[in-house]
Order: sequence, then structure tokens, then C-alpha cells
Amino acid sequence: MNPIPILFFILLVIITLQANQSHAGSVTNDNDLINKACDHALYKEFCKASLLSAPGSKQANLSGLDIIELKLALSNASNINQFINGLLKNTSNDPFVRQCLEDCSENYQDAIDQLNNSLAALGSERYNDVNTWVSAAMTDADSCEDGFKEKPGHVSPLTSRNTMFSHLCSNVLAITNVLAGIEPHDAIPPLMRKWTPDEYRDIGIKT
Ligand SMILES: *[C@@H]1O[C@H](CO)[C@@H](O)[C@H](O)[C@H]1NC(C)=O
Ligand SMILES: *[C@@H]1O[C@H](CO)[C@@H](O)[C@H](O)[C@H]1NC(C)=O
Ligand SMILES: *[C@@H]1O[C@H](CO)[C@@H](O)[C@H](O)[C@H]1NC(C)=O
Ligand SMILES: *[C@@H]1O[C@H](CO)[C@@H](O)[C@H](O)[C@H]1NC(C)=O
Repeated sequence: MNPIPILFFILLVIITLQANQSHAGSVTNDNDLINKACDHALYKEFCKASLLSAPGSKQANLSGLDIIELKLALSNASNINQFINGLLKNTSNDPFVRQCLEDCSENYQDAIDQLNNSLAALGSERYNDVNTWVSAAMTDADSCEDGFKEKPGHVSPLTSRNTMFSHLCSNVLAITNVLAGIEPHDAIPPLMRKWTPDEYRDIGIKT
């Protein structure tokens, strides 16, 4: 006997059960949504805490939560850039440190542009673009941090800020992945709702 139809039958049963579950209808409350948004984040507790402390997060849907986290990253980048410019005002810094700081300032200006692009991409549900830009912004923070390692005896004055920024970006990537797994105008994950005939056809089931 061919096992493939049996597998599809089992899958169908699972899907039907889950569809029925969603009809029984539990409405997600705000904390559930924040938990869900951060569920696959590498820095889960930081992800949740950063969202919880941000104004507007209690009323936001998943896409709103992603925008909030992205804006936190954007304002972090802008604050860090200001901090770097403050360090550059210290004229007694040695030339190597000055060069590193100047590079870092450029890195963060790039990161600000890239996150700004991400915000636009998020608004038009271009999630791959969001991933590309946010990953690029994370790389900028790495480049900044690595610069100081090129000459022994120098300690980066930006480590904690680079790390926090990088974690915020990582959170955005994690939330975007959750968001991308969901139909744009349907807040219910694919397996939790009734599938369309086309979706059944896509996995080889005739309805
Ligand atoms: C960066 O964002 C975090 C989380 O919102 C915040 O605690 C921290 O103060 C911010 N740092 C800067 C430099 O903006
Ligand atoms: C200015 O730079 C010198 C040399 O790098 C350093 O020792 C000093 O702590 C810096 N001062 C400030 C306020 O950053
Ligand atoms: C972000 O992009 C918009 C256009 O989409 C532009 O008007 C704005 O000045 C940009 N902001 C920053 C901080 O680059
Ligand atoms: C999410 O909320 C925003 C308003 O904050 C709204 O414009 C958008 O349509 C909502 N998205 C979904 C999928 O409900």
C-alpha cells in the first residue's frame, strides 16, 4: 500500500482539528501577542521587555509590534551616533581611536538609512527586504566593534551599545519572521484557519 495518501489523510485530520480549534475561538490578548512575536527571538526576554516598555505596544497588532521594535532600533542607532560624535569632540583621542570612531559614525549613519528603508519595506509587506536591510544594519554594528580590535591594546568604548543595538536588530528579524508566516490581511496563522482549495492543491490534495 502506498503510504503517501495516508500521510495526506493524517495531515488533513490535523488541519481540520486545528481549524475547528480556532473556531472555538480564543481571542489573543496583548501579552499573548507580545509572547508570540518574541517566541523565536534569540534574546526572548529582552525582546518582550523592550516591547512591553514601549508606548502603544498594548494596542498594537503583530505588524505594529514589529514597527515598534524597528523604531526602537532606529532611535538606538541615532542615539549611538550622537554618542560617537560626542566622543569625537575629545581632541586628545589618539589617531587610531579617532579613525575607529569616524568609521563607527559612518557605520551608524548607514544603519540609520538601512533601518529607515526597512520601515518603508515593512509598511508594504516586503519582508525579504526588511530582512536584508536589518541584517545589513547588524553588520554595521559588528564592523564598528571590530575596528577597535585591529590594533592591540585598544578597548572599544561602544561595546555595550553595539551589543544592545545588535540585539534589537535581531529581535526585529525574529518578529518579521513570525509576521512573514502570516497572510497579510489575516491575523490567523495558516494552519489555524480553514484552508482555501488552492492551498490544499498546493500540497497535492484535491478538494
Ligand atoms: C536602546 O534601546 C534599549 C531598549 O529599548 C534602551 O533600553 C536603551 O536605553 C537604548 N539605548 C540607546 C543608546 O538609545
Ligand atoms: C579623551 O581621550 C583620552 C585619550 O584617548 C582618554 O584618556 C580620555 O578618557 C577621553 N576623555 C573623554 C571625556 O572621553
Ligand atoms: C527616511 O526615509 C524617508 C523617505 O522614505 C525620508 O523622508 C526621511 O528623511 C528618512 N529619515 C532618515 C532618518 O533617514
Ligand atoms: C495592524 O494595525 C494597523 C494600525 O496600527 C493597521 O493599519 C493594520 O491594517 C493592522 N493590520 C492587520 C493585519 O490587521
